[in-house]
Parts: sequence; structure tokens; C-alpha cells
Amino acid sequence: MATTSQTNVTLDTIVSLAKRRGFIFQSSEIYGGLNGCWDYGPLGVELLRNIKESWWRAMTYRDDIEGIDAAILMHPRVWEASGHVQSFSDPMIDNKISKKRYRADHLIEGEIEKLRKKGRTEQADALEAKLNAASDPAEFYQIIIEHQIQDPETGQAEWTEVRQFNLMFKTYIGPLEESSSAVYLRPETAQGIFVNFTNVLQSSRQKVPFGIAQIGKSFRNEINTKNFLFRTREFEQMEMQFFVKPGEDAKWYDYWREQRWNWFRDLGMQMERLRMKPHEKLAHYARAAVDIEYQFPFGWGELEGIHNRSDFDLGRHTEYSGKKLEYFDQVANERYTPFVIETAVGASRSTMAFLCDAYAEEEVKGEKRNVLRFHPKLAPYKVAVFPLVNKDGMPEFATKLHGDLQRSFKAFYDDSGAVGRRYRRQDEIGTPFCVTIDGQTLEDGTVTVRDRDTMQQERIPAEGVGGYVGQRIA
Ligand code: GLY
Repeated sequence: MATTSQTNVTLDTIVSLAKRRGFIFQSSEIYGGLNGCWDYGPLGVELLRNIKESWWRAMTYRDDIEGIDAAILMHPRVWEASGHVQSFSDPMIDNKISKKRYRADHLIEGEIEKLRKKGRTEQADALEAKLNAASDPAEFYQIIIEHQIQDPETGQAEWTEVRQFNLMFKTYIGPLEESSSAVYLRPETAQGIFVNFTNVLQSSRQKVPFGIAQIGKSFRNEINTKNFLFRTREFEQMEMQFFVKPGEDAKWYDYWREQRWNWFRDLGMQMERLRMKPHEKLAHYARAAVDIEYQFPFGWGELEGIHNRSDFDLGRHTEYSGKKLEYFDQVANERYTPFVIETAVGASRSTMAFLCDAYAEEEVKGEKRNVLRFHPKLAPYKVAVFPLVNKDGMPEFATKLHGDLQRSFKAFYDDSGAVGRRYRRQDEIGTPFCVTIDGQTLEDGTVTVRDRDTMQQERIPAEGVGGYVGQRIA
């Protein structure tokens, strides 16, 4: 059968499919929406849960990693120790005329891209080198003025000074808005892990090397949210901190880079759309850092960071809390502050990446079909059940089979319209298997199972469908 696949999807196509089929809705849409916040619909929440479940199994169903779920609100001193109060900020600049606010580094990146598009590679390289060397507001400002960088929306170049803008959301515990009761919504889940290092070590009797993993919401007051789920103010992270003996950190850094790369591969991501990008500028705490990036419709963007964080985190919390966060190796009779290898992946960004990656438009026998080729593990519905016609006992048979399957899998029942249309509706939401009950079923108890990707059907006994689907998912 002749099929052609079109894989270069636009972001608008994904956003509109996501809304139409119930993956993602804009937050508070009936009130005009809230920028940088998105809601997961009936299918989106299944996809997100499947991604988180795959990560949780990969990361914690092993002997050397424990899971936790820490509170979102933490003691304010945590964020002083972590460095977030002091330096978790972006340089921002305002257009004096339109009052539009931008991240200064993003403006410069936009200019670099423009130069590259015009083939002015040398100038682009020189500007990129300057951007990489810049760290304080005055330096960003200097670059913007020197290169006469314009507002990408209005073309104006009347800029305010560059100021640092802290990305943490502040709120208050108790009824009074006093500074003494100010707390932050966590901007990362990692700190909940560090502050529980001793609790987990003692209660689980783990030995270094070992890790602690958690999945949870984080919040960042981004200056500009953009690109759908990519840069949002509220998002979900899946982070793991692996505690190792100093000196063994490089080995474990390599190990985790490979593990995390393979996780995306094993969930069927197209490998040519993934790349490893070492950080050009290392954060103050990092010994080494690399991003796993995905080629989104808008370009390459970070999905996951793998960092060698040295002993910075445990060292800082020791200093700020006065509690020693150390490890005593009984065999070697030595005490040390472990180094940390962090793997930090966005659950929300991964959802968007898997959605974009799965999307294809095909022509099948002269007709267009939209399909989401999710790995069966990630697909919101695993199986759909159709009675071919609504008579002759087929609905009763199909309802019973659907009920049986639903005990193990998220299963969909559809008895409306031509069966071809029902297949297409399932293709578009990525259901890997469709089971049809037809006249032959009533004679010999067999059903057809149609594969989303090959569109081929095979006939198997109805009682074997559960085993078949389970096996194909695994
Ligand atoms: N903990 C690292 C991050 O939030 O990306």
C-alpha cells in the first residue's frame, strides 16, 4: 500500500490537534487564558502519566535508587543555600516605547540567528562568543547597544538598562504578608532531594553510590513564555540525584549520560531528532554538563540536563543548616561529602517532544490520515474495541470484551460510524491496536486486531486479545 509520511510538522498543527483531541488546553481559557500555563486534557493526562511511569520505573525499579515526593513549599533558607535567591535570575530589558519586556540574552540569540540566516557567519560567531562571555547586566546591555539590536516585534531600539529578574514565585505562609513568612514555590525539585539526603540514607540503608529520584511540579516566573509546553511558568520535572564518591564522578557522569539517552531511544524517539549538547558555560557548581536536546518544530531545545554538580549542594546545605550531610564509608573507614550526578528532565517538555515526534501525516489510498505513532507504552489508549455493526449480538460481544480489557488497559469503545472512520479517529490519538467484532466472531470467537502503524489486520481468538496487547506493549 502506498503511504507517504510527512514529518515536518508545524507547532500550530500540534497545538490545534492537542486541543481538538483533548491532550492540552490553555489554562483558564474561558477567561482569556493565563500565559505560560497549560492544562492536560483526558488524553494528555494519560500521555503525561505514561511518560512519568516509564521514567519512574527506569529510575527507581533498581536497587540503587530510592524515590521520594517532597513538599513544594520549603524552608526559605533552602533557596539561600542553593544559590537561587542570589542568582536564579534572568537579565531582562524593556522596550521604552512599546513597554514590551525581553530576556536580554534571547534578544542577542535572535540577532545571532538573523546573521546566520544571512550567511554572515563570522559576525554571528563573534557575537556568540561575546554572548557566551557575558554574565552581568551591564555586559548584556553593552552588546545590545553596540550591535543596535532591535525589538523583533516593532523594530525599535529604544531600550532601558538591563536588570536581573529573579524567577522564583514568592508567596506567604500565614495570613500576614510579612517578609518573615515569605516562602517560594520551588523552582526545581532537586533541593527536596538534597535536604533529605540523610533521611533517605539512614532509612533505606543505602550505600554510596546511590540515588534519590522524584517527580513533581516546579514553578518559574519566566519573562517570556513561549513555544507551547516548552517554556511555561508551571511545569513538571523528573529529577534524580546520584551520590558518588569524589573521584568516581566522571565515570558516573558518563554512565548517566548513556542511560538517559537510551531512555528516549527505547521509547521510540527518532534518534536523528535528538542530540547531546555540552554546555558552553558551566554553572558555578558544575564540573561538567550536557543537555539532551530535541529538534522541536521551532528548533533545537533542551529536554534534559545531565550535570556533575560536585559536592556543591550537600556542602552548601551543610554550611547553611549546620547539619553535616556526609557519608561514612565503613569499609574504607573514611568520611566524605559525596559528589552529585544529576539527571533533570522535564515531564512537560518530554510530553511535547513525544507528541511532536509521534505526529505524521500520510496519504493512504488517496486519503489523508493523521497518525500519532506513540510507543505503545506511551499511547493514552492501548486498545479500541468496535462492533462492526450494532446488531446480531456484536455490541454485546464487544461490550464484554471491552470490559475485560479495561481491567488491564485503558481501552476505548466506539460503535459510531463506518469502521474506517473509527480507525482514523484512533490513529489520530495514537491507539496502537483496534479490535473489531464481526460476523465471524459470532461463529468462531475470533476477532480482527488492526495495527496502527502497518494498518494490517490479523485474526486471533477474542480471549487472546489481552495477552496480545500486553505482549506488544512490553
Ligand atoms: N535541577 C536542575 C534543573 O532544574 O534543571
